[in-house]
Amino acid sequence: LANGVARVPPMGWNSWNSFGCNINETLIRQMADALVSSGMRDLGYQHVVVDDCWFNPNRDAAGDLQGDPSRFPSGMRALGDYLHARGLKFGLYQVPVDRTCAQYFGAYPGATGSQGHEAQDARQFAAWGVDYLKYDWCSPNGTIQDQVTTFAKMRDALAATGRPIVYSINPNSIHAKTGPQRNWGDVANLWRTTEDITNAWDTGQSNGYPMGIQNIVNVTVPLANYAGPGSFNDPDMLEVGRGGMSDTEMRSHFALWAMLAAPLIAGNDVRSMTSATQTILKNQNLIAINQDSLALQARQVSGDGSRRVLAKPLANGDVAVALFNQSGSTATISTTAAAVGKSGSSFTLRDAWTNTTTSSTGTISASVPAHGTVVYRVSGGGTVPSNTGTLVSAASGKCL
Ligand code: DGJ
Repeated sequence: LANGVARVPPMGWNSWNSFGCNINETLIRQMADALVSSGMRDLGYQHVVVDDCWFNPNRDAAGDLQGDPSRFPSGMRALGDYLHARGLKFGLYQVPVDRTCAQYFGAYPGATGSQGHEAQDARQFAAWGVDYLKYDWCSPNGTIQDQVTTFAKMRDALAATGRPIVYSINPNSIHAKTGPQRNWGDVANLWRTTEDITNAWDTGQSNGYPMGIQNIVNVTVPLANYAGPGSFNDPDMLEVGRGGMSDTEMRSHFALWAMLAAPLIAGNDVRSMTSATQTILKNQNLIAINQDSLALQARQVSGDGSRRVLAKPLANGDVAVALFNQSGSTATISTTAAAVGKSGSSFTLRDAWTNTTTSSTGTISASVPAHGTVVYRVSGGGTVPSNTGTLVSAASGKCL
């Protein structure tokens, strides 16, 4: 969406994965403080997104949305001020329809959702200092055309406020168990590609609820054509630091989100992170690949179903190459500089995890543990004129 924001994938933190409805202003402020003290803010994690359950589900006498006075006694504007004073940005959740996915709903039609109140609610968000809106369909009903119409109304209402606001939509909370049914780049900055993520490598759900990491990757890789500055596939928030996966799997999750130009929205409790979690979330090589100004999503260059090679061209002519081992045992995965779009015969490979470099005459190869992902930043040789690789067909057959 060409609204001037999210020219690269947004980074930040969201309350849902770790806290669900157990949120209040003290908790959100503590997270904000921890983003600052941990150094994460300075690495780019700036959006603090308050997800579902922040509301008083009934509007006030003027028809304005209001925060839950017991959870947010200082008010939503004060929370925005707190975040802005610390160099952070304010994200908020809302639904178009009357019930949020966590079943918050008011006493009368239109009490909670923004449908029919788009202009008033967008002005309210702007007045509170909101910088990022997550707009969640949360209804079993509605056609794709209903979704386009409804999501576009809020897009236009946000634009009319004049405040730059990142617009993140979740069409898939319709629970239709499908991948994205269209390219949402004309409507939103970010759109969810799957059902909800959970902290597991594989839930056995190929496109159901909840989704493991590898199945989200399977759905999102074929959508590379949709991504670019201002418009990104959203494979959901990060599960790094939430248990349920090995360190290798957590590293793979983060590396693949970086390669897929996904929003990097931490979902863990950032007040208490292990050093392993911090090492992953603060990997500057991967953050730089994710935040690169070309804002391209990696494409699959080759793959046999389990040994997959993804390539992401970068603004300075380098190419980030991921060697992703989706199989259950260690495997050597190889490609070449030519296959990822580089010309020439002399290259430097920087390993994003070890931060060490090796020289190459063209071979790009590594022994990769089961479920692991090795990422090299390939420098040298000729530059790449455009994105490389071919789109693999969509896992569900629904996306392209
Ligand atoms: C469904 C979304 O996919 C989640 O990320 C979260 O926002 C919940 N709704 C909140 O109810």
